[in-house]
Amino acid sequence: MTGTVSGKDSPLIMDNVHTVTGKRIILGVSGGIAAYKAAVLLRRLTEAGNRVTVIPTDAALRMVGKATWEALSGNSVSADVFDGADRVNHVRLGQEADLCLVVPATADTIAKMAHGIADNLLLTTLLSVSCPVAVAPAMHTQMWNNPATRHNIDLLRGRGTVILGPVSGRLTGRDSGPGRMMEPEEIIRRISALPDGKIHGADLRGKTVLISGGGTREPIDPVRFIGNRSSGRMAAELARSAALRGGKTILVSANTEAEILRSLPGSVRNVPVQTAAELAREMQKYAACADIVIMAAAVCDYRTQCAGDAKIKRGKDPITLTLVPNPDILLDLAENRRREKQLVVGFAAETGSAGKDFLQLGREKARRKKADFLAVNLVGEEQGFGPVKTELFLLDREGREKTRFSGEKSTVARDMMEFLAENLYPAENRP
Ligand code: CTP
Repeated sequence: MTGTVSGKDSPLIMDNVHTVTGKRIILGVSGGIAAYKAAVLLRRLTEAGNRVTVIPTDAALRMVGKATWEALSGNSVSADVFDGADRVNHVRLGQEADLCLVVPATADTIAKMAHGIADNLLLTTLLSVSCPVAVAPAMHTQMWNNPATRHNIDLLRGRGTVILGPVSGRLTGRDSGPGRMMEPEEIIRRISALPDGKIHGADLRGKTVLISGGGTREPIDPVRFIGNRSSGRMAAELARSAALRGGKTILVSANTEAEILRSLPGSVRNVPVQTAAELAREMQKYAACADIVIMAAAVCDYRTQCAGDAKIKRGKDPITLTLVPNPDILLDLAENRRREKQLVVGFAAETGSAGKDFLQLGREKARRKKADFLAVNLVGEEQGFGPVKTELFLLDREGREKTRFSGEKSTVARDMMEFLAENLYPAENRP
């Protein structure tokens, strides 16, 4: 990846080997055995031309001493809020930094960060920073899986903190499992690959993003329905990306798997619905305050004319269900914008048919739907649904390809949200 984004007084350059350079970085170190790996990370960061200030906790200093941090960073090191009190160090450091890393982040430091506790220099600094914050958790598997830790991680994620790992592997003792800290090289690769918006802070802060996801279900009787195979994963990933960029995010989720919903940052507002009619109602309601509206839900095109109150009993004769068309929610949202300067985006999952390939069908649909963008992907038995890789072609309302995204759904969602954030505001007006 090659690219340049401007820092406070020096550019952050992402070169071909994914290196962050020329930045003012705070490296917070909390007290895990993995603190020794933070020394390796520090070395790499300073060698790459970054100015790094290390703020260890007292517990971290029991793992790796002050002299090591000072020698490797070339800066004096303190863990004490009262050191240099005349210069109000924590506020100054926080305001000057381009990036703040907490490596390793223990369960204790994560919990304190999540709840705004500030009982050491690192935590007071973290409350003062306005730059992006990334943490690399390191702890034993049971601690990582504990609901308290997971909740704290969700809180941080929901506020835009980047969570780096942990990975699965050998832990401090003889056992292994999830909880091992990400390796320094991988941390550097990840922070270098952060989208520009992330490095600059949250580019959707102050904006509202409304996303529909999942698949609607149209009842036939109290126990049966017409539905589709949409899991809601893509919409959930889009909601996560929007929330990470600071957007107020509302997910109208049609029958989305509970596990997917549980993994969302706590700041995402989930509005559960079942039918197309319910989805239309909620989307129309929230669209009145949304800057970006994304229809990622698979909406049943038809509903039964009258769903019975009682279970249909088995019989020998064929039965006929009369289906009536559902309204086109996307078309309505795009044609009758509920708000000025609103970006409306649709999705189209195509299989290709009648001699036309999926992209040709997508282009025709883009022209019909009147949305600003239509994200088209190829679906089939093994493609498009569930936790799989995907490829999206983003077409404008004339059906012209603007860009395409491919990879895991989380990557595609992140890249797509970055594109939408960029196309919502001209670059010079970014907050
Ligand atoms: N959509 C909608 N309301 C419907 C059907 C679809 O808002 N009743 C939206 C979907 O959320 C998606 C886009 O329209 O953003 C395209 O959905 P798709 O099912 O591909 O298109 P249809 O209009 O249903 O056309 P067809 O099924 O004939 O391909």
